[in-house]
Parts: sequence; C-alpha cells; structure tokens
Amino acid sequence: MTGRLEGKRTLITGGGSGINFAIAKRFIEEGAIVSVADLNPERAQAVEALGGRFAVVDAGDVAGVEAWVAAEAEALGGLDVIVAGAGYELVANALELTVEQWDAHMAVMLRGPFVLFKAAIPHLIAAGGGSLIGLGSNLAFAGLNNFTSYVPAKHGLIGLMRVLAMDFAKDGIRANALCPGVIDTPLVRRQLDVPNADELLALWKSGSFFNRLGKPEEVAAGAVFLASDESSFVTGSALMVDGGYTAQ
Ligand SMILES: NC(=O)c1ccc[n+]([C@@H]2O[C@H](COP(=O)([O-])OP(=O)(O)OC[C@H]3O[C@@H](n4cnc5c(N)ncnc54)[C@H](O)[C@@H]3O)[C@@H](O)[C@H]2O)c1
Repeated sequence: MTGRLEGKRTLITGGGSGINFAIAKRFIEEGAIVSVADLNPERAQAVEALGGRFAVVDAGDVAGVEAWVAAEAEALGGLDVIVAGAGYELVANALELTVEQWDAHMAVMLRGPFVLFKAAIPHLIAAGGGSLIGLGSNLAFAGLNNFTSYVPAKHGLIGLMRVLAMDFAKDGIRANALCPGVIDTPLVRRQLDVPNADELLALWKSGSFFNRLGKPEEVAAGAVFLASDESSFVTGSALMVDGGYTAQ
C-alpha cells in the first residue's frame, strides 16, 4: 500500500516543533520526503529520527531561505510541496510594540512565506505543479487584543495565498492557507506561564464548540489533504481547523 503523499518532496519551515513537527511526522508516514528548516538546532535529532532532513534556517533571513531552498531542491531532485509554518507570537499593544519588533515579526510571519514560496515556485513549475501551504490561523479572520503584528501578518497571509493561487494555477500549482484555532503546542503552553493560567485555558477551550484545545495531529490531517492530489480542485482557500472558533 502506498501513502497519500508517496514521493512528494516537501519543505517545511518551523518543522521542529508543534503543528509543523506533526505535519512533518504525518507526511513521512504518508510517504513524503521531508526537509525541515527551523531556528532551533536542538530539534534536529527529533526530525531526523522521523526520517526527515533538518537544517538550521531563520525563516526571516532572505539569503538563508533562498540558499536552503536551492540546496534542498538539488538534494531531493526537485520540489512538490512547500509548507510555510515558521512563526511565533508577540503580545504587545500598539503603544508597546516597537517599529523594530513589528518589522522583525513581519519578516518571519509574512515576508518569510513570500520569500520561501518565491524561491520554491520555479522548482514546482519544473516538476509540473505542486502545492503551497501557508500556516494561517483563526486570527487570519478575527482580531485579538495585543496581537498587533500577529493578526495583520495572518490576515496578510490569506491574501498572499489567494494571489499565488491565481497567478500560478496555469502552472499546476495550488496555494491554500491552513488555519488552526488554539492548538495544544509549546507555543500555546508558553503563554500559560501566568498566574491566571486556569482562567486563560478555560477561555481558549470555550472558543471551540468542543470545549477543548485542538491537537497538532488534527491540523496535520488538513495539511495532508491540501498537499495531496485529493485536493486537486482546492486553491485560494482557507481550511479552518479551529473547532468552530470562526463560525460563531
Ligand atoms: N498553536 C496554535 O494555537 C496556533 C494557532 C494558529 C496558528 N498557529 C501557527 O502555526 C505555526 C506553528 O505554531 P506552533 O503552535 O506549532 O508553534 P511552536 O512554537 O510549537 O513551533 C514553531 C516552530 O517554529 C520555529 N520558528 C520560530 N521562528 C522561526 C524562524 N524565524 N525561523 C525558523 N523557524 C522558526 C520554532 O523554533 C518552532 O520549532 C505558526 O505559524 C503559528 O502562528 C498556531
């Protein structure tokens, strides 16, 4: 039996942890050939143990991303699927957030996917098509207090995926956003290091119709669909994996 992603040469940024790590794991189980870029070198072993390739790359570093894409395209003999997943949260209102912090955040969260996809698209064209997946968020469709740069970056990503979908459909390339709600990952757990953690956790849970956090594997299942040929007529879309958060 072959997997749903058999032989698909895949790049994943931020694949060392959380949702993107779950995507890497599931993709490898489905037969994909996976290469991960992450800022954190300590995650190399975990990715390699899955059977994935690993490189330390800052998704906000233009030259670094370009060099990584070129090297992996060469090593894998081409590219089929690209997942722009690297991201981090920055919690500050507009008076607290510095212009430098805004620029640095945008460089990873919005310019990062643009640079990654721009570098990869020629390789997908050469392969006869492929799938671009941007990690969006429920916060691509809703605001959240103090997420001054995060919310605009995720909103912007939806626009980027729509434009890429239009421009490169002729080349057999599909582009979609994958939009998690609150998912139980290290990123979310870090925010619970506060005195009112129980209250905060209860609030997050109540944002979903199931009164719980999502699991990284539930988001990875959406990524498998968007990467596979089963989603051949799906492009320019945003797949919500948010337990209903944005439906209320
Ligand atoms: N967890 C959630 O509830 C949630 C909800 C909606 C969207 N998201 C999005 O999903 C993605 C993954 O989030 P997660 O919760 O799994 O986070 P996480 O912190 O568990 O994992 C993120 C990974 O990205 C890496 N990373 C961060 N900045 C990087 C950079 N500049 N270059 C390369 N790698 C970098 C980190 O080292 C880490 O391994 C992010 O884009 C996030 O915005 C998460």
